[in-house]
Amino acid sequence: MENTIDPAVLLLNGATREGGNTDSLLSYIETGAYKIGVPVEQIYLRDCSFGQCIGCYYCNDYGECSQNDDMTLIRFKIQKASVLVFAAPIYWSDLPGLMKTFIDRLYFYYHSPSSHLIANKKVVIIHVMAEKEDIAFETELVNKFYQRMCRSLRLDMVDTLIFDKLYSASDLRKRPDFIGQCYQYGQKLGELIEYEQVNRL
Ligand SMILES: Cc1cc2nc3c(=O)[nH]c(=O)nc-3n(C[C@H](O)[C@H](O)[C@H](O)COP(=O)(O)O)c2cc1C
Repeated sequence: MENTIDPAVLLLNGATREGGNTDSLLSYIETGAYKIGVPVEQIYLRDCSFGQCIGCYYCNDYGECSQNDDMTLIRFKIQKASVLVFAAPIYWSDLPGLMKTFIDRLYFYYHSPSSHLIANKKVVIIHVMAEKEDIAFETELVNKFYQRMCRSLRLDMVDTLIFDKLYSASDLRKRPDFIGQCYQYGQKLGELIEYEQVNRL
């Protein structure tokens, strides 16, 4: 993982398929954000090396994680960012295991002494899915999960974007509306950051 400048927006990509729909949608968001000069960085969780939370609660007592892996740098970037975008395909009406493993490691921020480090950051959720009919049913579980996560970590969930009817990676080519939406959303991220900065003053 690159150690670059501090991103204002961190795109946390939880897709396991390289070059799939999540990758493509996030690349359009990135392009839109770059266009207006928003510092954005994408982290491909599949390319990172981090272990599962082992439930040792070392973080509760010492404010450090007992595991020293790529999460150390990712946490640093999370703490610097203003907006966190959690993006993943829907697997079995839920998160893919990769994203869940990653979020388990954010337990680090659940208790003091570290809970203040990310409190009040803005969160955007992105679901990518094949379902074409009962979107509400397909996303009910995962939406509840993210609500719970944001409430527990004192994060401010501002948007949930859903991209449905995408099964194979080539399906996105048939959806110029999604591509345009992502590009525009990338630009909207600039407004979220400005809002955040004004409210910090
Ligand atoms: C293991 C697995 C489980 C899936 N479960 C669902 C599901 O419950 N609902 C749904 O709409 N799509 C489901 N899908 C389809 C993916 O969400 C869809 O293909 C998505 O576009 C994949 O995103 P990606 O191209 O970024 O990998 C599943 C796919 C896989 C491989």
